[in-house]
Amino acid sequence: MEKGTTPAIGAPADVGPDAEVVIAIKDLHKSFGEKKVLQGFDLTVRRGESVMVLGKSGSGKSVLIKCIVGLLKPDKGSISVLGKDMLSLDHDELDHIRVKIGFLFQSSALYDSMTVRENLEFPLRRHWIAQEGNDRDALVKEALENVGLENTADMYPSELSGGMRRRIGLARTLILKPEIVLYDEPTTGLDPITGKEIVELILRLQKKYGTSSVIISHDLNVAKLAANRIAVLIEGRNHAEAGYDELYASEDPQVKPFFIFM
Ligand SMILES: Nc1ncnc2c1ncn2[C@@H]1O[C@H](COP(=O)(O)OP(=O)(O)OP(=O)(O)O)[C@@H](O)[C@H]1O
Ligand SMILES: [Mg+2]
Repeated sequence: MEKGTTPAIGAPADVGPDAEVVIAIKDLHKSFGEKKVLQGFDLTVRRGESVMVLGKSGSGKSVLIKCIVGLLKPDKGSISVLGKDMLSLDHDELDHIRVKIGFLFQSSALYDSMTVRENLEFPLRRHWIAQEGNDRDALVKEALENVGLENTADMYPSELSGGMRRRIGLARTLILKPEIVLYDEPTTGLDPITGKEIVELILRLQKKYGTSSVIISHDLNVAKLAANRIAVLIEGRNHAEAGYDELYASEDPQVKPFFIFM
């Protein structure tokens, strides 16, 4: 896909209040020593929905996402993912459910010593999917096509631009066809045009595979284009939650500053 040729994709599909809840977070608390980060955070995500969590730098967005995938253990509260209580799962159960949860790290976190193909094969090797008669080459090819980078399989990450690396990171996150994808700052560090292309790509793949997602960001393009709902994380809590237009029009002095385009 060349720069600027991405067609407009439209808003995310509406999800009704009766859709299955795929993530339920209740009263989540997490501190590091004296530092209170999450202080009673609540969030619900339904199947097919994209929920954005908006918050200042250091407000605890990455901590939240790490709690959801089980990389950090909260001090208090509950997290249910696809009906499983994440905080009481043993190692094997956690490993099994993690296959259904894709995680796009804040940096693309590609392995520099591996080619693009090897990076994409990595999750396939780790998990059962490659052993179940799935054709690894076909999955790699599909993943690269999805992000418009068919010709990069034999390149190393250092040979790619930042935007391309982000796309490959996205392809690797999606290669196991996760039911839920957690995106940590998918557009940070990219120029606005490339950032917008990534947002449109996320939305397109979301629609193609029907994934549910949590998108952590402070990018208003993400809020405007890709989110069904936006939760504003302030002082460790879900301070306000609504669609883009409603939050944009909010008179709440703590919410307003997020919606000023610089
Ligand atoms: N493993 C850790 N040990 C100690 N403190 C931590 C740890 N992880 C995060 N923190 C602290 O928790 C707070 C929230 O961090 P977090 O990374 O979640 O912020 P963020 O909202 O993702 O910010 P940014 O937008 O800059 O990525 C910070 O004060 C950070 O120093
Ligand atoms: Mg972060």
